[in-house]
Amino acid sequence: MPDPALVVLIGAAGSGKSTFAATWNPSQVLELDAFRAMVSDEAGDQQATADAVAAMRTVLEARLTRKKTTVIDSTNCERAVRAGLVQAARRHGVPTVAVLMGTPVSLCVIRQTARTPGRAVPADTVRAQHTAATAAFPGLRGEGFDHVVFADQLHRLEPLLQRASD
Ligand code: CTP
Ligand code: MG
Repeated sequence: MPDPALVVLIGAAGSGKSTFAATWNPSQVLELDAFRAMVSDEAGDQQATADAVAAMRTVLEARLTRKKTTVIDSTNCERAVRAGLVQAARRHGVPTVAVLMGTPVSLCVIRQTARTPGRAVPADTVRAQHTAATAAFPGLRGEGFDHVVFADQLHRLEPLLQRASD
């Protein structure tokens, strides 16, 4: 991966974005759930999304200005959201990397059952996110990402990562 880079994780809820993001330094990761919690005390409060996105964008601008590698940990399944991120990075001359989480949708859905009710995403929503993420893959270079990675083995990585952090 280039350094600096803006790394945009793309994947449904439960696809393992935050688990993968934890392999970076915590200060390099902007997690939308964390910004929701910062503005509303509840990571799952969807009504706080607009304020959370605004706060996250402010921090991203500050980091891009400093040419700091930054990982965007949110679903990023919508084209307009990705376009905003690519534009911001371009303005600062920072290369962009899209990482599509290749976790099977069945696994993303099953993982919701282990979550607390406030954090569990409905199965239909997870399936729609997964479909959108997968459909976006062939067009990611065309959207302006400098590098595109299909991370099809990451969902098998956790035991390794845990061993590394023990
Ligand atoms: N998980 C796992 N093995 C992996 C990756 C994730 O067992 N290789 C588990 C995590 O421990 C967690 C769940 O799957 O319990 C969801 O992973 P998470 O990283 O939280 O997924 P996100 O994509 O970040 O989900 P969300 O968009 O809802 O934040
Ligand atoms: Mg997450």
